[in-house]
Amino acid sequence: MNRFVFALPVILIAASVYGQAGRGASVIDTPHNLSVSGPGGVHAVSEQRVCVFCHTPHAASPVQPLWNRFQPVNAYTVYSSSSLDAITGQPTGSSKLCLSCHDGTIALGSVLSQGQQIQMAGSLTTIPPGSTNLGTDLSDDHPVSFRYDTFLVSRDPKLRPPSGLPAEIRLDANQELQCTACHDAHDNSSGGFMVMSNTNSQLCTSCHQILSTTVTGHENCLGCHQVHTAPSGPFLMQGVNARATCLTCHDGSTSAPNIAADMSKSSVHDTDSSADPIDPIPDHVSCADCHEPHTMNTGQAAAPDVHPNFGQVSGVSLTGAEIDPAQFEYEVCFKCHDDQAAVTPWISRLAVQNNTRLEFSPSSVSFHPVVTTGRNSDVPSLKTGLTPASLIHCTDCHGSDNGASGVSGAHGSASRPLLVARYDTAEQTSESASAYALCYQCHERTSILNDDSFERHDKHVRGERIPCSACHDAHGINSAQGTTTNNSHLINFDSTVAFPSPKAGNVGPIFIDQGNRAGTCTLLCHGEDHDDENYGP
Ligand code: HEC
Ligand code: HEC
Ligand code: HEC
Ligand code: HEC
Ligand code: HEC
Ligand code: HEC
Ligand code: HEC
Ligand code: HEC
Ligand code: HEC
Ligand code: HEC
Ligand code: HEC
Repeated sequence: MNRFVFALPVILIAASVYGQAGRGASVIDTPHNLSVSGPGGVHAVSEQRVCVFCHTPHAASPVQPLWNRFQPVNAYTVYSSSSLDAITGQPTGSSKLCLSCHDGTIALGSVLSQGQQIQMAGSLTTIPPGSTNLGTDLSDDHPVSFRYDTFLVSRDPKLRPPSGLPAEIRLDANQELQCTACHDAHDNSSGGFMVMSNTNSQLCTSCHQILSTTVTGHENCLGCHQVHTAPSGPFLMQGVNARATCLTCHDGSTSAPNIAADMSKSSVHDTDSSADPIDPIPDHVSCADCHEPHTMNTGQAAAPDVHPNFGQVSGVSLTGAEIDPAQFEYEVCFKCHDDQAAVTPWISRLAVQNNTRLEFSPSSVSFHPVVTTGRNSDVPSLKTGLTPASLIHCTDCHGSDNGASGVSGAHGSASRPLLVARYDTAEQTSESASAYALCYQCHERTSILNDDSFERHDKHVRGERIPCSACHDAHGINSAQGTTTNNSHLINFDSTVAFPSPKAGNVGPIFIDQGNRAGTCTLLCHGEDHDDENYGP
């Protein structure tokens, strides 16, 4: 910096004599030429000197390079977020110089070298309102005035080492990142006084090695982020939160898949909160809880693997431990649908469980094969393509009800609870292909109604109009709550439908497995007393 102390007065004198010279030459054609000849909307009434608004060879403040402006007072709200590692404080160095105009508190024509303010055209005093007036609230602007050093990179490995920055990007003498890391107040050749063009986000990625995506619509950082006056504050996003940001494109207004339509259905993951986008779960769900914004990819995944478009998202493992990144889809769901019990059970059952992770545990007595292959090797109803060795995703059952041709995902559905197809659970449901469309996606309707396994399926389902859900739990029954005798075949009665058999001495309602395609029931249901009623050979 010291070399400028001697060089600057010479350049400034030269500049005032010849109109242009040296380093500051190109400022003349920019909005930073505030003299009467300035090309921008903001300029002086009669002042002809270009450099005087920022520099003076005389009477300058002790701040280098020969600064001609009053220092703004330290009353800024600085950027902060739950993931920021940088140690930030009030602006320092050249950032304060920029803010002496751009915070809108000091008159543009107020300079140290003369007592009287330089008169600006249009009776303007401070910088006009609008995007160039950042205000004193910098919590919605890219952080500045902190050390960008190897210590910071060790705390945030998604930053490049400062030694590898391109020549255009300069930190100040204290290795602090200032406004001038991204802007050059003299040079507007890249537009916006940028030190380099940001085509393909090359400015951002010079420092951040965060984005690795094959989703072409996501290659531009500024598609989601806004560096200044960002509506979200923390994380500098284009919308007030992640959802609003994503929906700027995913709302049907662009070619991007339209998620907004699902978001207004009766059963949704409620992603609408203006709070911090990395909000504590489970009271609020963010798009970023399932889709890590920077590592989303295109493509398909077989169960139980996580979808490529989830990216490197965190989860909770089968044992309840945090895991980052999640490997399996269910681990992402268990992040909230575990001990935190994000939702109460949809159907009240004999074995009540709102920890979904426990229902699907490999030690459970019976379960749909989400985590590991199911316990039953005799499932005659399975449709072609499925076998007892098949695995399925949670989202084979939970997600949009748009059907195969529409937009998919666990966003919203008209079938509660967030089901991909209709699943009627009321008593007196007339059986049809649509009433139990969810189950009939994978289980052949004709097989169920032919009584291939349970010889009274047809009598109950069609004859008595008993819904599948009265007998079957769609998830599983944990070994702490059930037994392989009483809860095989996903049997876990709906306690509003099945009651204890009134006969003296009977317990229950109870199901007893008696081997392959055989069992007994003791319970009172639809007015019928089943006293040790058996089926099978
Ligand atoms: C809008 C404010 C502004 C105007 C107008 C301006 N400068 Fe600067 N100038 C700066 C800032 C800010 C820095 C400090 C840059 C840094 O710290 O990296 C600077 C730094 C300099 C330096 C030090 C070397 C460098 O580039 O860092 C020279 C020399 C210089 N200016 C010359 C001029 C001349 C000559 C003019 C008039 C033709 C001029 N400046 C007009 C803001 C301005
Ligand atoms: C002497 C006051 C002053 C100082 C100091 C100053 N600016 Fe400006 N700047 C302006 C004015 C005035 C404009 C034009 C505002 C408008 O038209 O709304 C402007 C415009 C800009 C623009 C927008 C350019 C465009 O093409 O729209 C950027 C970016 C900018 N300044 C960055 C900086 C940075 C970074 C610094 C410090 C290195 C700085 N300014 C220092 C007064 C200043
Ligand atoms: C990390 C890089 C970075 C830093 C640091 C940075 N800016 Fe910017 N700034 C940008 C980018 C990129 C744009 C262009 C925004 C756009 O095109 O959407 C911009 C635009 C601007 C604008 C024009 C108004 C606007 O919103 O487009 C002003 C004024 C400005 N910056 C001033 C500053 C000041 C003052 C500082 C320091 C307090 C600063 N910038 C720090 C990257 C940065
Ligand atoms: C000169 C290097 C540099 C450039 C260029 C840069 N950044 Fe940064 N940015 C940083 C550093 C360093 C941090 C602080 C990171 C931390 O604390 O973990 C940061 C912080 C951020 C944050 C806040 C992070 C948080 O955890 O809250 C966002 C968002 C961000 N940058 C986006 C951008 C975007 C978008 C661009 C391109 C317009 C960009 N940055 C350009 C260096 C840079
Ligand atoms: C598809 C939208 C999207 C794109 C594109 C995107 N981001 Fe982000 N970014 C987000 C969201 C949303 C968050 C909020 C954090 C969260 O909730 O996980 C975020 C957070 C961040 C953070 C802070 C958190 C962290 O992990 O350190 C930084 C830094 C960041 N983004 C930088 C960038 C940069 C640099 C680019 C371009 C190379 C970029 N982002 C591209 C959506 C995006
Ligand atoms: C600037 C517009 C834009 C924004 C903002 C945006 N997206 Fe996208 N997104 C797209 C486009 C376009 C596609 C279409 C596929 C492609 O580009 O490859 C897409 C595709 C996707 C896909 C499907 C990828 C696949 O092939 O399976 C997901 C998931 C996605 N976006 C999630 C998000 C999330 C979450 C956010 C907010 C954090 C977001 N998007 C913000 C434009 C955007
Ligand atoms: C970040 C936490 C979180 C994650 C991750 C999450 N959920 Fe949820 N889920 C919730 C919350 C909270 C609710 C209650 C509705 C609301 O307020 O959004 C809910 C509701 C549901 C519902 C019931 C909807 C209703 O109408 O009652 C289902 C089904 C569901 N989630 C399935 C899933 C599946 C499948 C996954 C994994 C792909 C998943 N969830 C991931 C938090 C989460
Ligand atoms: C075979 C289809 C199917 C699969 C696979 C499935 N669910 Fe469900 N889920 C349902 C049905 C049906 C309900 C309605 C309640 C019932 O039938 O007991 C439900 C209810 C829910 C609820 C609402 C609360 C409750 O327990 O009633 C949540 C949350 C949920 N499921 C999450 C998940 C998660 C997480 C996974 C994967 C680990 C998953 N589901 C796998 C069908 C399924
Ligand atoms: C995405 C495909 C899929 C859907 C949808 C589905 N199932 Fe299954 N189901 C399977 C597979 C695969 C098995 C085999 C597991 C095994 O061999 O234990 C199975 C097994 C079963 C079993 C036998 C479990 C045992 O241990 O005996 C029952 C009962 C069952 N499903 C009921 C239902 C009901 C009720 C529905 C509707 C709520 C449904 N299924 C929806 C795939 C599905
Ligand atoms: C609970 C988890 C969860 C949340 C929260 C979530 N998604 Fe998804 N999303 C999914 C699943 C599951 C898919 C389908 C994945 C697959 O099959 O590839 C998906 C798919 C998508 C797709 C691609 C759809 C298609 O058919 O191409 C887009 C776009 C998308 N999500 C955007 C968003 C946006 C925007 C938000 C926030 C408003 C959001 N998601 C919130 C789970 C989630
Ligand atoms: C009255 C109670 C009851 C109702 C209602 C019921 N089931 Fe069952 N289901 C059973 C019993 C008991 C078994 C075990 C048969 C055995 O011992 O193998 C069974 C077995 C199954 C099996 C595994 C064997 C096979 O057939 O592939 C599937 C799948 C199944 N049921 C699906 C359904 C569907 C779908 C519905 C609704 C359309 C339904 N069940 C309604 C009691 C019921």
